[in-house]
Amino acid sequence: MSRIFVAGGRGLVGSAIVRRLQADGIEPLAPSRRELDLLDQKAVDAWFAENKIDQVYLAAAKVGGIHANDTYPAEFLRDNLVIQSNIIHSAWQSGVKKLLFLGSSCIYPKLAPQPMPEDCLLTGELEPTNEWYAIAKITGIKMCQAYRKQYDFDAISLMPTNLYGPGDNFDLQNSTKQKRLIRLQ
Ligand SMILES: NC(=O)c1ccc[n+]([C@@H]2O[C@H](COP(=O)([O-])OP(=O)(O)OC[C@H]3O[C@@H](n4cnc5c(N)ncnc54)[C@H](OP(=O)(O)O)[C@@H]3O)[C@@H](O)[C@H]2O)c1
Repeated sequence: MSRIFVAGGRGLVGSAIVRRLQADGIEPLAPSRRELDLLDQKAVDAWFAENKIDQVYLAAAKVGGIHANDTYPAEFLRDNLVIQSNIIHSAWQSGVKKLLFLGSSCIYPKLAPQPMPEDCLLTGELEPTNEWYAIAKITGIKMCQAYRKQYDFDAISLMPTNLYGPGDNFDLQNSTKQKRLIRLQ
């Protein structure tokens, strides 16, 4: 059976992926931040080398709404760039067969046509209140494309719209509740 790593497996999206896999009789690895700090490249490298992972769901990120993005722009940019770079690189280096990266619909231009076509990516200004997060996410998509192009690494990206469900964060300052639309099981 494939060995699956759900990065961010204790979060809103990651825990839903874990539950879905468990319903299919699969027990993925989903270490907590205390067990594996994804900002630590050496720790991430060692963890992949030790655990012989086949598939990765990359649902770990620094996530928040307008207030949090506006208050912590450096953390939103740096933490997301580092987490996704560490995982994508270690996954490729350790021989992972498939990786799914999760982005967000906020990567598209603020004034994109509605409904948003995928090819409007990078054609206009981003919404300024979450540009830090969006730039990191766009880089994650491009990193998946670059590793596919140069190394033939089977990495793909999904852009969910706004989500809510079990385990969600309803903090008035830091949650993304302003725009939740899709309910997770
Ligand atoms: N929620 C939405 O509406 C939505 C919409 C579109 C796309 N997405 C995408 O889905 C993904 C997950 O979002 P989410 O809403 O599930 O966020 P979340 O509930 O905040 O989950 C993020 C997870 O990442 C973990 N994490 C963050 N930094 C870490 C670190 N340094 N080391 C280890 N783990 C770390 C968190 O652990 P801790 O619990 O320890 O912080 C948490 O388990 C993101 O890429 C986001 O862009 C979400």
